[in-house]
Parts: sequence; C-alpha cells; structure tokens
Amino acid sequence: MEEKIAKLTENCTAEISAADSESALYAVRVKYLGKSGLISELMKGMRELSPEMRPLMGKIVNEARGKLESLFAEKGKALHESELAARLAAEKIDITIDKAHPVGKLHPLSAVRKRLVDFFVSMGFDVMEGPEVETDYYNFEALNVPKDHPARDMQDTFFIGGNTLLRSQTSAAQIRYMENHKPPLKMISPGRVFRNDDDATHSPVFHQLEGLVVDKGITMCDLKGILESFAKHFFGQETKVRFRPSYFPFTEPSVEVDVSCAICHGKGCRICKGTGWIEILGAGIVNRKVLRTCDIDPDEYTGFAFGFGIDRIANIIHGIPHIKLLYENDIRFLKQF
Ligand code: DAH
Repeated sequence: MEEKIAKLTENCTAEISAADSESALYAVRVKYLGKSGLISELMKGMRELSPEMRPLMGKIVNEARGKLESLFAEKGKALHESELAARLAAEKIDITIDKAHPVGKLHPLSAVRKRLVDFFVSMGFDVMEGPEVETDYYNFEALNVPKDHPARDMQDTFFIGGNTLLRSQTSAAQIRYMENHKPPLKMISPGRVFRNDDDATHSPVFHQLEGLVVDKGITMCDLKGILESFAKHFFGQETKVRFRPSYFPFTEPSVEVDVSCAICHGKGCRICKGTGWIEILGAGIVNRKVLRTCDIDPDEYTGFAFGFGIDRIANIIHGIPHIKLLYENDIRFLKQF
C-alpha cells in the first residue's frame, strides 16, 4: 500500500507540473483528490488492513494528501497569475488616448452667442427667437419702414415672393414680442439674418442680437448703462463707450455705438483702422410710432432698443480678421478656439 501511495503521489506531482491551464489543473485535482478520486479509492482499501497498520497508513496518506494540496495551491497561483497577465496584455487599452473619437466643441460663433445670451439673461432679459422667414410687415412696415421708404435701401433684402422675405434684421422680433407682451418688458432676440451682400467684409448670412426694454421713464441713460456694462464685460473693464448720432427708422433719436479698441487701447491699429474706436451696434429710443403700432401708449411708456452683429463681437473678442472665416468651417481654423 505504501508503494501505491508513493506511485500515486509521483504521478500526481508529474501531472500537476504538466498542467498548463487552471482548468487542466482542476481536472487533475478531481482525478486524485476528488470524492471518488484515486486517493479516496485507496483509502477504501484501508479496511483490509490490520488495526495496528491502519493509523500508520492513515498518517502516510494524509501526509501525501497534504503535500499534494500544497503543490496544487502553488501551481494554481502561478497559473492564475500568468493567465491574468496574458489577458491584461491582450486586452490592453489606453483610455487616456482616444484618437478615433476626438472631443467636439462649440463653434466660436455659437460659444460667443451663448455667452452673450447668458449675459443678458443674468440681467433679467427674456429670450425670444423669431422666425427667419418673415413677412414684410414685421421686418419693415411695423418698424416704421413703409414701402418706398428710402431706408429700405439700407439693407439689401432677399424677397421670396409676395410679402415674404428672409429677415434682414432681428428687429422684426421686437414687434412680435410687443404684440404678445405688455410693458414693463425686457427681451433679447438672437438669430440669423440675411442680406444680399457678399464681399470681403460681408457674408449673405450673419447673426444679430436684438435688445428691447420698454417701461415707464426709460431714457438714453438706461441704454448707456446697459451698453457700458456689456462692453466692459466682453472687452475689458477699461473699455470706453461712445455714442454718435445716427438714423434708424424705428428709433428716435438713434445712435451708433463705438467701443474703444481693445487691441490698441485707443492708440490706433489695424483692427480699428487707426481710429482707436470700433463700431459695434445701432441703438436708440424706440420710435413712438413703433410703440403705437404695437398698442403701447407712447405717452405712458418709453423704451430703448439696440441691435448688433454677433459675428462682429466674436471677431473682436478673438481677433479674427475676417467674417468669412467663421463660415468656411476650416478645421485648422476652428481648432484654435
Ligand atoms: N436693425 C439694425 C440693423 O440691422 C440695428 C439696430 C439699430 C437695431 C437700432 C435696433 C436699433 O434695435 O434700435 O442695422
């Protein structure tokens, strides 16, 4: 019997060291140490031994089993480690590099538009987006630009047919807003506008942001206050604002607003064309006629309005020399923001 045990132990040891996977090792273990494995079979033979021999043989079998157990444990650990290492190597992914899926970001125009809207919303302005395909009434007539009025030539408009056109200014949204809201009111309307202009400095599609405030006792001072904080917020605290008399049919009086050049601080450079000032928007006190058209009593209420090009603001903020760059979507350009 002793010999048998020695033989079994020897065979088992050889099979353990030959096992090349965790599952192969498990099979060896079942074969020798399992419930009906070879060692258990051997133990059954103990019954035939004399009572003096039994404890002796029991001890030998237990020692053999103990030795095999530790061999199994050792080999199992080694196999587990090498299998894990092989799997980790095969499944290796560097999650810090993902060249296949570069992260996208907002177009510089969208990003600036978002910042502009956030600024006015933080001051309590409501946001309204009007339609891009407008009627002559909202784009012109209700804004005090009747047919045959020379002011129509200020904007070369795309007419679609009849009284329908592509809006040439977001000012159209003022009328739509005042039709549905009564003062006190504060709103902005950002969006695309269209003009039949296409040269080095003009794009047939660009973006404007319109602003309108109507309440009792609104004056040019309120306009100046809002525009000054706007200019300082976007172009820097040292920025100065200048009002120049101008003309728009829907405001009276009207102004054009310049900011001191953020690039050269007023000394004169290429961006401000040597003047030290950059024109950024048109504004004024809402024309009494416009208020009356919207059923608001101009003797009780006054208001101011302003409108600027979002593209222009984006160009000034980022020092972009050319509006067309914003529309070509050249990835080498867009990556810089
Ligand atoms: N709509 C004008 C334009 O496109 C800009 C403008 C000027 C808007 C004066 C206004 C304003 O609201 O009061 O040139």
